[in-house]
Amino acid sequence: MKTRKNVYHLQDDTLAWYSRAVEEMKTRDINDPTSWWYQGAIHGYATYPQALTFWQDATGYPPSPQTVDSGFWNRCQHGTWYFLPWHRMYLFYFEQIVAKAISDMGGPSDWTLPYWNYCEAFNTSASASEQDQALQLPPEFGSSQGPNADFQALWIKDRRNYVLKKRNVNPWPAMNETEFTNGTGEICFGGGVTGFAHSGSQTGQLESLPHNVVHTDINGAMGNPDTAALDPIFWLHHANIDRLWQVWLDQGDRHNPTINAWRNFRFKFHNAEGNPVDMVVKETETTQQLGYVYTPDFPHSTTATPRRTLPAMDVVGASPASFALTDHMSPLNLEMVPKPSRNARLKAASLAQGQKKRTVLRISNVTGKGPASPIDVFITNRDGEEGNDENFVGCIGLFGLQNASTPSVESDGSGLNFAIDVSETIDKLRQRDDWDEEKIALQLIPQSQHENDVEINVGRVSLHSEIDD
Ligand code: C2O
Repeated sequence: MKTRKNVYHLQDDTLAWYSRAVEEMKTRDINDPTSWWYQGAIHGYATYPQALTFWQDATGYPPSPQTVDSGFWNRCQHGTWYFLPWHRMYLFYFEQIVAKAISDMGGPSDWTLPYWNYCEAFNTSASASEQDQALQLPPEFGSSQGPNADFQALWIKDRRNYVLKKRNVNPWPAMNETEFTNGTGEICFGGGVTGFAHSGSQTGQLESLPHNVVHTDINGAMGNPDTAALDPIFWLHHANIDRLWQVWLDQGDRHNPTINAWRNFRFKFHNAEGNPVDMVVKETETTQQLGYVYTPDFPHSTTATPRRTLPAMDVVGASPASFALTDHMSPLNLEMVPKPSRNARLKAASLAQGQKKRTVLRISNVTGKGPASPIDVFITNRDGEEGNDENFVGCIGLFGLQNASTPSVESDGSGLNFAIDVSETIDKLRQRDDWDEEKIALQLIPQSQHENDVEINVGRVSLHSEIDD
Protein backbone atom coordinates (compact mmCIF):
# COMPACT_ATOMS: atom_id res chain seq x y z
CA MET A 1 0.00 0.00 0.00
CA LYS A 2 1.24 3.48 -0.86
CA THR A 3 0.50 6.30 1.58
CA ARG A 4 -0.34 9.74 0.26
CA LYS A 5 0.75 12.32 2.83
CA ASN A 6 -0.15 15.85 3.83
CA VAL A 7 2.20 18.19 1.95
CA TYR A 8 2.83 20.17 5.14
CA HIS A 9 3.96 17.05 7.00
CA LEU A 10 6.49 15.84 4.43
CA GLN A 11 9.96 15.32 5.79
CA ASP A 12 11.68 14.04 2.72
CA ASP A 13 12.41 15.16 -0.82
CA THR A 14 9.02 14.29 -2.33
CA LEU A 15 8.54 17.84 -3.65
CA ALA A 16 12.10 18.19 -4.91
CA TRP A 17 11.60 15.05 -6.98
CA TYR A 18 8.19 16.23 -8.09
CA SER A 19 9.75 19.45 -9.38
CA ARG A 20 12.47 17.57 -11.26
CA ALA A 21 9.91 15.21 -12.78
CA VAL A 22 7.69 18.09 -13.92
CA GLU A 23 10.71 19.75 -15.49
CA GLU A 24 11.62 16.57 -17.30
CA MET A 25 8.05 15.83 -18.41
CA LYS A 26 7.82 19.36 -19.83
CA THR A 27 10.67 18.56 -22.22
CA ARG A 28 8.63 15.70 -23.69
CA ASP A 29 6.59 16.35 -26.79
CA ILE A 30 2.95 17.34 -26.41
CA ASN A 31 2.00 14.31 -28.53
CA ASP A 32 3.72 11.96 -26.06
CA PRO A 33 1.10 10.58 -23.64
CA THR A 34 3.55 10.79 -20.74
CA SER A 35 4.45 14.45 -21.30
CA TRP A 36 3.38 17.16 -18.88
CA TRP A 37 1.39 18.73 -21.69
CA TYR A 38 -0.49 15.64 -22.80
CA GLN A 39 -1.35 14.85 -19.18
CA GLY A 40 -2.81 18.34 -18.81
CA ALA A 41 -4.74 18.07 -22.07
CA ILE A 42 -6.46 14.89 -20.90
CA HIS A 43 -8.27 17.20 -18.51
CA GLY A 44 -8.95 19.98 -21.00
CA TYR A 45 -7.34 21.62 -24.00
CA ALA A 46 -8.42 24.68 -25.97
CA THR A 47 -6.93 27.48 -28.02
CA TYR A 48 -9.07 30.53 -27.28
CA PRO A 49 -6.83 33.32 -25.93
CA GLN A 50 -7.31 32.66 -22.21
CA ALA A 51 -6.20 29.02 -22.73
CA LEU A 52 -3.65 29.57 -25.50
CA THR A 53 -1.44 31.69 -23.27
CA PHE A 54 -0.62 28.48 -21.36
CA TRP A 55 -0.65 25.98 -24.22
CA GLN A 56 1.67 27.82 -26.56
CA ASP A 57 4.57 27.11 -24.15
CA ALA A 58 4.24 23.37 -24.77
CA THR A 59 7.12 21.41 -26.29
CA GLY A 60 6.10 20.45 -29.81
CA TYR A 61 3.18 22.89 -29.91
CA PRO A 62 0.86 22.73 -31.82
CA PRO A 63 -0.18 19.13 -31.23
CA SER A 64 -1.05 17.02 -34.25
CA PRO A 65 -4.76 16.92 -35.13
CA GLN A 66 -4.67 13.15 -34.57
CA THR A 67 -3.62 13.70 -30.98
CA VAL A 68 -6.27 16.33 -30.36
CA ASP A 69 -8.96 14.04 -31.78
CA SER A 70 -7.59 10.81 -30.31
CA GLY A 71 -10.39 10.47 -27.78
CA PHE A 72 -7.91 10.83 -24.92
CA TRP A 73 -8.08 14.62 -24.60
CA ASN A 74 -10.80 16.80 -23.05
CA ARG A 75 -12.06 13.96 -20.88
CA CYS A 76 -12.50 15.51 -17.41
CA GLN A 77 -15.85 14.75 -15.85
CA HIS A 78 -17.60 17.70 -14.26
CA GLY A 79 -21.18 18.29 -13.18
CA THR A 80 -21.77 14.53 -12.95
CA TRP A 81 -21.64 11.51 -10.65
CA TYR A 82 -18.45 10.51 -12.55
CA PHE A 83 -16.58 13.53 -11.20
CA LEU A 84 -15.03 11.64 -8.27
CA PRO A 85 -14.19 8.31 -9.97
CA TRP A 86 -12.82 9.94 -13.14
CA HIS A 87 -10.46 12.21 -11.21
CA ARG A 88 -9.38 9.27 -9.02
CA MET A 89 -8.34 7.34 -12.14
CA TYR A 90 -6.65 10.42 -13.60
CA LEU A 91 -4.51 10.85 -10.46
CA PHE A 92 -3.75 7.15 -10.31
CA TYR A 93 -2.12 7.06 -13.76
CA PHE A 94 -0.50 10.47 -13.39
CA GLU A 95 1.14 9.37 -10.14
CA GLN A 96 2.61 6.32 -11.91
CA ILE A 97 3.91 8.41 -14.81
CA VAL A 98 5.62 10.85 -12.41
CA ALA A 99 6.99 7.97 -10.30
CA LYS A 100 8.50 6.36 -13.39
CA ALA A 101 10.08 9.64 -14.50
CA ILE A 102 11.64 9.91 -11.03
CA SER A 103 12.98 6.38 -10.86
CA ASP A 104 14.32 6.72 -14.43
CA MET A 105 16.27 9.75 -13.20
CA GLY A 106 17.79 7.63 -10.45
CA GLY A 107 15.39 8.78 -7.75
CA PRO A 108 13.35 6.67 -5.35
CA SER A 109 11.09 4.05 -6.91
CA ASP A 110 8.06 4.71 -4.70
CA TRP A 111 7.22 8.39 -5.22
CA THR A 112 3.71 9.17 -4.00
CA LEU A 113 1.52 12.18 -4.67
CA PRO A 114 1.01 14.38 -1.58
CA TYR A 115 -2.25 16.20 -0.80
CA TRP A 116 -2.92 19.79 0.19
CA ASN A 117 -5.36 19.81 3.09
CA TYR A 118 -6.59 23.41 3.06
CA CYS A 119 -9.67 22.14 5.00
CA GLU A 120 -7.43 22.13 8.07
CA ALA A 121 -8.42 25.82 8.33
CA PHE A 122 -11.75 24.54 9.72
CA ASN A 123 -10.12 22.25 12.28
CA THR A 124 -10.92 23.89 15.59
CA SER A 125 -8.52 21.61 17.42
CA ALA A 126 -5.57 22.78 15.32
CA SER A 127 -3.61 25.84 16.43
CA ALA A 128 -4.34 29.20 14.83
CA SER A 129 -1.04 29.11 12.99
CA GLU A 130 -1.72 25.63 11.61
CA GLN A 131 -5.12 26.80 10.43
CA ASP A 132 -3.56 29.80 8.68
CA GLN A 133 -0.77 27.76 7.15
CA ALA A 134 -3.25 25.32 5.62
CA LEU A 135 -4.68 28.13 3.49
CA GLN A 136 -1.31 28.95 1.94
CA LEU A 137 -0.07 27.38 -1.22
CA PRO A 138 2.92 25.35 0.00
CA PRO A 139 5.96 27.67 -0.38
CA GLU A 140 7.70 25.22 -2.72
CA PHE A 141 5.11 26.17 -5.33
CA GLY A 142 6.47 29.71 -5.36
CA SER A 143 4.80 33.01 -4.59
CA SER A 144 3.48 36.07 -6.34
CA GLN A 145 7.16 37.09 -6.59
CA GLY A 146 7.94 34.08 -8.77
CA PRO A 147 9.24 30.53 -8.48
CA ASN A 148 10.96 29.09 -5.46
CA ALA A 149 14.55 28.70 -6.67
CA ASP A 150 14.84 25.16 -5.35
CA PHE A 151 11.58 24.00 -6.90
CA GLN A 152 11.54 25.91 -10.18
CA ALA A 153 9.05 23.73 -12.02
CA LEU A 154 6.33 23.92 -9.36
CA TRP A 155 5.48 27.51 -10.25
CA ILE A 156 3.22 28.77 -13.03
CA LYS A 157 2.50 32.32 -14.17
CA ASP A 158 -0.72 34.24 -13.52
CA ARG A 159 -1.99 32.64 -10.31
CA ARG A 160 -4.22 35.25 -8.70
CA ASN A 161 -4.00 34.15 -5.06
CA TYR A 162 -1.37 32.29 -3.07
CA VAL A 163 -3.48 32.29 0.07
CA LEU A 164 -7.01 30.91 -0.03
CA LYS A 165 -9.95 32.55 1.72
CA LYS A 166 -11.14 30.43 4.60
CA ARG A 167 -14.75 30.40 3.46
CA ASN A 168 -13.63 28.82 0.17
CA VAL A 169 -12.42 25.60 1.78
CA ASN A 170 -15.38 24.67 3.99
CA PRO A 171 -15.73 20.89 3.77
CA TRP A 172 -18.97 20.63 5.78
CA PRO A 173 -21.70 21.32 3.22
CA ALA A 174 -20.38 18.30 1.32
CA MET A 175 -19.39 16.06 4.21
CA ASN A 176 -22.76 16.45 5.94
CA GLU A 177 -24.69 15.17 2.92
CA THR A 178 -25.68 11.53 3.32
CA GLU A 179 -26.46 10.63 -0.29
CA PHE A 180 -23.91 10.23 -3.06
CA THR A 181 -26.49 11.06 -5.68
CA ASN A 182 -30.20 11.69 -5.75
CA GLY A 183 -30.67 11.50 -9.46
CA THR A 184 -31.45 15.09 -10.22
CA GLY A 185 -28.14 16.54 -9.10
CA GLU A 186 -29.97 18.59 -6.53
CA ILE A 187 -28.05 18.79 -3.27
CA CYS A 188 -26.05 15.57 -2.83
CA PHE A 189 -22.43 14.61 -2.20
CA GLY A 190 -21.20 13.23 -5.50
CA GLY A 191 -23.22 14.69 -8.39
CA GLY A 192 -26.24 13.91 -10.54
CA VAL A 193 -26.91 10.92 -12.80
CA THR A 194 -25.54 11.63 -16.28
CA GLY A 195 -23.72 9.93 -19.13
CA PHE A 196 -20.23 11.02 -20.15
CA ALA A 197 -20.14 14.65 -19.02
CA HIS A 198 -17.10 16.74 -19.92
CA SER A 199 -19.03 19.86 -19.03
CA GLY A 200 -22.11 18.66 -17.21
CA SER A 201 -24.49 20.65 -15.05
CA GLN A 202 -25.39 18.23 -12.22
CA THR A 203 -22.75 19.36 -9.79
CA GLY A 204 -22.44 17.59 -6.44
CA GLN A 205 -21.62 19.41 -3.22
CA LEU A 206 -17.98 18.29 -2.97
CA GLU A 207 -17.34 19.35 -6.53
CA SER A 208 -18.98 22.69 -5.83
CA LEU A 209 -17.22 23.44 -2.54
CA PRO A 210 -14.33 23.27 -1.90
CA HIS A 211 -13.39 21.93 -5.35
CA ASN A 212 -14.64 24.58 -7.79
CA VAL A 213 -14.14 27.47 -5.43
CA VAL A 214 -10.48 26.58 -4.74
CA HIS A 215 -9.89 26.46 -8.51
CA THR A 216 -11.28 29.94 -9.05
CA ASP A 217 -9.62 31.36 -5.92
CA ILE A 218 -6.13 30.43 -7.21
CA ASN A 219 -7.26 31.28 -10.74
CA GLY A 220 -4.86 31.71 -13.68
CA ALA A 221 -4.40 28.27 -15.24
CA MET A 222 -6.24 26.71 -12.28
CA GLY A 223 -9.31 28.85 -12.90
CA ASN A 224 -10.19 27.10 -16.15
CA PRO A 225 -10.64 23.36 -16.84
CA ASP A 226 -8.91 23.82 -20.22
CA THR A 227 -5.63 24.72 -18.47
CA ALA A 228 -6.04 23.69 -14.81
CA ALA A 229 -3.94 20.54 -14.88
CA LEU A 230 -0.91 22.49 -16.17
CA ASP A 231 -0.52 23.99 -12.69
CA PRO A 232 1.46 21.53 -10.54
CA ILE A 233 -0.75 22.37 -7.53
CA PHE A 234 -3.76 20.94 -9.40
CA TRP A 235 -2.68 17.38 -8.50
CA LEU A 236 -2.31 18.12 -4.78
CA HIS A 237 -5.69 19.86 -4.76
CA HIS A 238 -7.28 16.83 -6.38
CA ALA A 239 -5.54 14.41 -4.03
CA ASN A 240 -7.32 16.26 -1.24
CA ILE A 241 -10.69 16.03 -2.98
CA ASP A 242 -10.03 12.33 -3.58
CA ARG A 243 -9.21 11.93 0.12
CA LEU A 244 -12.46 13.66 1.12
CA TRP A 245 -14.41 11.08 -0.88
CA GLN A 246 -12.80 8.31 1.16
CA VAL A 247 -13.37 10.17 4.46
CA TRP A 248 -17.00 10.71 3.51
CA LEU A 249 -17.45 6.99 2.85
CA ASP A 250 -15.68 6.06 6.09
CA GLN A 251 -18.25 8.00 8.10
CA GLY A 252 -20.42 4.89 7.87
CA ASP A 253 -23.91 4.77 6.55
CA ARG A 254 -22.66 6.37 3.34
CA HIS A 255 -22.59 4.46 0.09
CA ASN A 256 -21.38 4.81 -3.44
CA PRO A 257 -24.03 4.31 -6.13
CA THR A 258 -24.89 0.65 -6.65
CA ILE A 259 -26.37 1.02 -10.13
CA ASN A 260 -24.49 -0.61 -13.00
CA ALA A 261 -24.64 2.54 -15.10
CA TRP A 262 -22.24 4.04 -12.58
CA ARG A 263 -20.22 0.98 -11.62
CA ASN A 264 -19.51 -0.27 -15.12
CA PHE A 265 -18.75 3.03 -16.83
CA ARG A 266 -15.35 2.89 -18.55
CA PHE A 267 -12.70 5.57 -19.11
CA LYS A 268 -9.44 5.47 -21.09
CA PHE A 269 -5.99 6.67 -20.02
CA HIS A 270 -2.32 5.86 -20.62
CA ASN A 271 -0.11 4.03 -18.15
CA ALA A 272 3.47 4.83 -17.16
CA GLU A 273 4.81 3.11 -20.29
CA GLY A 274 2.57 5.34 -22.42
CA ASN A 275 0.31 2.47 -23.44
CA PRO A 276 -3.47 2.87 -23.59
CA VAL A 277 -5.36 1.33 -20.68
CA ASP A 278 -8.87 1.59 -19.37
CA MET A 279 -10.58 1.36 -16.03
CA VAL A 280 -14.17 0.98 -14.89
CA VAL A 281 -15.70 3.01 -12.10
CA LYS A 282 -16.23 0.04 -9.77
CA GLU A 283 -12.44 -0.44 -9.60
CA THR A 284 -12.16 2.94 -7.91
CA GLU A 285 -14.69 2.65 -5.11
CA THR A 286 -12.11 2.83 -2.34
CA THR A 287 -8.50 3.98 -2.41
CA GLN A 288 -7.37 0.59 -1.05
CA GLN A 289 -8.65 -1.09 -4.19
CA LEU A 290 -6.12 0.96 -6.11
CA GLY A 291 -3.32 0.28 -3.66
CA TYR A 292 -3.06 3.49 -1.65
CA VAL A 293 -4.36 5.17 1.48
CA TYR A 294 -4.23 8.70 2.88
CA THR A 295 -2.74 9.56 6.25
CA PRO A 296 -5.55 10.19 8.77
CA ASP A 297 -6.33 13.89 8.66
CA PHE A 298 -9.05 16.47 9.20
CA PRO A 299 -12.01 16.20 8.76
CA HIS A 300 -12.05 12.89 10.57
CA SER A 301 -14.81 10.57 9.60
CA THR A 302 -16.65 10.89 12.88
CA THR A 303 -17.21 14.62 12.96
CA ALA A 304 -19.89 15.27 10.35
CA THR A 305 -23.50 16.06 11.22
CA PRO A 306 -25.56 14.00 8.83
CA ARG A 307 -28.36 15.85 7.10
CA ARG A 308 -31.69 14.31 6.40
CA THR A 309 -32.24 13.07 2.89
CA LEU A 310 -33.56 15.92 0.81
CA PRO A 311 -37.37 15.92 1.08
CA ALA A 312 -39.86 17.16 -1.52
CA MET A 313 -39.29 20.84 -2.13
CA ASP A 314 -41.40 23.62 -3.51
CA VAL A 315 -40.43 27.01 -4.83
CA VAL A 316 -41.04 29.89 -2.43
CA GLY A 317 -39.64 32.77 -4.43
CA ALA A 318 -37.45 33.53 -7.41
CA SER A 319 -35.77 36.31 -9.36
CA PRO A 320 -38.25 37.77 -11.84
CA ALA A 321 -35.71 37.91 -14.71
CA SER A 322 -32.18 37.00 -15.63
CA PHE A 323 -29.53 39.53 -14.67
CA ALA A 324 -25.90 40.45 -15.13
CA LEU A 325 -23.67 39.75 -12.16
CA THR A 326 -21.45 42.78 -11.73
CA ASP A 327 -18.97 43.85 -9.06
CA HIS A 328 -21.36 46.14 -7.26
CA MET A 329 -24.73 44.57 -7.59
CA SER A 330 -27.47 45.94 -5.40
CA PRO A 331 -29.53 43.42 -3.43
CA LEU A 332 -31.85 41.47 -5.66
CA ASN A 333 -35.39 41.24 -4.32
CA LEU A 334 -36.98 37.86 -4.85
CA GLU A 335 -40.48 37.75 -6.20
CA MET A 336 -42.44 35.55 -3.82
CA VAL A 337 -44.98 32.96 -4.89
CA PRO A 338 -48.41 34.38 -3.87
CA LYS A 339 -49.18 33.23 -0.36
CA PRO A 340 -52.35 31.21 -1.07
CA SER A 341 -50.59 29.08 -3.68
CA ARG A 342 -47.43 28.51 -1.69
CA ASN A 343 -47.01 24.91 -0.52
CA ALA A 344 -43.91 25.62 1.49
CA ARG A 345 -43.31 28.26 4.13
CA LEU A 346 -39.90 29.30 5.28
CA LYS A 347 -41.17 29.92 8.75
CA ALA A 348 -43.42 27.18 10.05
CA ALA A 349 -41.36 24.11 10.73
CA SER A 350 -43.70 21.21 11.42
CA LEU A 351 -40.91 18.79 12.09
CA ALA A 352 -40.04 16.46 14.91
CA GLN A 353 -37.72 17.96 17.49
CA GLY A 354 -34.13 18.35 16.53
CA GLN A 355 -34.90 18.15 12.83
CA LYS A 356 -34.37 21.18 10.69
CA LYS A 357 -36.57 22.15 7.84
CA ARG A 358 -34.47 22.23 4.70
CA THR A 359 -34.33 25.25 2.43
CA VAL A 360 -32.22 25.35 -0.69
CA LEU A 361 -31.09 28.25 -2.84
CA ARG A 362 -30.59 27.49 -6.51
CA ILE A 363 -28.54 29.66 -8.79
CA SER A 364 -29.26 28.39 -12.29
CA ASN A 365 -28.03 28.87 -15.83
CA VAL A 366 -25.01 30.96 -15.00
CA THR A 367 -23.34 31.82 -18.32
CA GLY A 368 -20.46 34.02 -19.38
CA LYS A 369 -16.72 34.03 -19.79
CA GLY A 370 -13.43 35.18 -18.36
CA PRO A 371 -11.46 34.44 -15.20
CA ALA A 372 -14.21 35.01 -12.64
CA SER A 373 -13.27 34.98 -8.97
CA PRO A 374 -15.33 33.10 -6.36
CA ILE A 375 -18.72 34.69 -5.67
CA ASP A 376 -19.99 35.18 -2.10
CA VAL A 377 -23.71 34.65 -1.63
CA PHE A 378 -25.81 36.38 1.04
CA ILE A 379 -29.52 36.31 1.91
CA THR A 380 -30.85 39.49 3.45
CA ASN A 381 -34.19 40.45 4.91
CA ARG A 382 -34.07 44.17 5.65
CA ASP A 383 -34.05 47.24 3.51
CA GLY A 384 -30.52 48.25 2.75
CA GLU A 385 -29.00 45.31 4.62
CA GLU A 386 -25.51 44.45 3.46
CA GLY A 387 -23.98 41.03 3.18
CA ASN A 388 -22.21 40.07 6.42
CA ASP A 389 -21.17 37.00 8.40
CA GLU A 390 -24.67 36.48 9.74
CA ASN A 391 -26.41 36.31 6.39
CA PHE A 392 -23.60 34.64 4.41
CA VAL A 393 -24.84 31.38 2.91
CA GLY A 394 -21.92 30.10 0.85
CA CYS A 395 -19.73 30.74 -2.13
CA ILE A 396 -19.71 29.48 -5.68
CA GLY A 397 -16.85 28.98 -8.13
CA LEU A 398 -17.57 29.51 -11.81
CA PHE A 399 -15.09 26.83 -12.91
CA GLY A 400 -15.80 25.85 -16.52
CA LEU A 401 -18.01 28.89 -17.10
CA GLN A 402 -17.01 29.39 -20.72
CA ASN A 403 -17.43 25.74 -21.78
CA ALA A 404 -20.76 25.42 -19.99
CA SER A 405 -21.97 28.55 -21.78
CA THR A 406 -20.96 27.49 -25.27
CA PRO A 407 -23.22 25.06 -27.12
CA SER A 408 -21.07 22.19 -28.40
CA VAL A 409 -21.12 18.42 -28.67
CA GLU A 410 -20.31 18.36 -24.99
CA SER A 411 -22.63 20.97 -23.56
CA ASP A 412 -26.05 22.42 -24.31
CA GLY A 413 -24.64 25.82 -23.41
CA SER A 414 -27.19 26.41 -20.67
CA GLY A 415 -24.50 27.29 -18.14
CA LEU A 416 -23.54 26.27 -14.62
CA ASN A 417 -25.99 25.42 -11.86
CA PHE A 418 -25.53 25.67 -8.11
CA ALA A 419 -27.54 24.59 -5.11
CA ILE A 420 -26.73 25.77 -1.60
CA ASP A 421 -28.37 24.54 1.58
CA VAL A 422 -29.43 27.76 3.32
CA SER A 423 -31.49 26.21 6.12
CA GLU A 424 -29.25 27.44 8.90
CA THR A 425 -29.10 31.01 7.71
CA ILE A 426 -32.85 31.17 7.15
CA ASP A 427 -33.28 29.76 10.61
CA LYS A 428 -31.11 32.49 12.10
CA LEU A 429 -32.80 35.25 10.12
CA ARG A 430 -36.33 34.21 10.97
CA GLN A 431 -35.64 34.54 14.67
CA ARG A 432 -35.29 38.26 14.23
CA ASP A 433 -38.21 40.42 15.33
CA ASP A 434 -38.45 42.12 11.98
CA TRP A 435 -38.29 38.94 9.87
CA ASP A 436 -40.58 39.24 6.89
CA GLU A 437 -41.05 36.22 4.69
CA GLU A 438 -42.33 38.41 1.85
CA LYS A 439 -39.14 40.42 1.68
CA ILE A 440 -36.23 38.25 0.85
CA ALA A 441 -33.27 39.57 -1.07
CA LEU A 442 -30.07 38.11 -2.34
CA GLN A 443 -26.61 39.49 -2.79
CA LEU A 444 -23.95 37.99 -5.02
CA ILE A 445 -20.55 39.59 -4.57
CA PRO A 446 -17.35 38.64 -6.40
CA GLN A 447 -14.48 38.17 -3.96
CA SER A 448 -12.14 40.24 -6.08
CA GLN A 449 -12.79 42.95 -8.57
CA HIS A 450 -13.30 41.69 -12.11
CA GLU A 451 -11.47 43.06 -15.15
CA ASN A 452 -13.69 43.78 -18.11
CA ASP A 453 -12.85 40.44 -19.72
CA VAL A 454 -15.25 38.86 -17.23
CA GLU A 455 -18.91 38.58 -18.13
CA ILE A 456 -21.43 36.79 -15.96
CA ASN A 457 -25.13 36.38 -16.49
CA VAL A 458 -27.44 34.57 -14.08
CA GLY A 459 -30.53 32.92 -15.57
CA ARG A 460 -32.48 32.53 -12.37
CA VAL A 461 -32.15 32.33 -8.64
CA SER A 462 -34.84 30.56 -6.68
CA LEU A 463 -35.52 29.58 -3.12
CA HIS A 464 -37.01 26.17 -2.40
CA SER A 465 -38.30 24.87 0.88
CA GLU A 466 -39.62 21.68 2.28
CA ILE A 467 -43.35 21.28 1.74
CA ASP A 468 -45.48 21.77 4.86
CA ASP A 469 -47.70 18.87 5.76
CU1 C2O B 1 -11.55 18.30 -13.44
CU2 C2O B 1 -10.47 20.20 -10.37
O1 C2O B 1 -11.03 19.57 -12.05
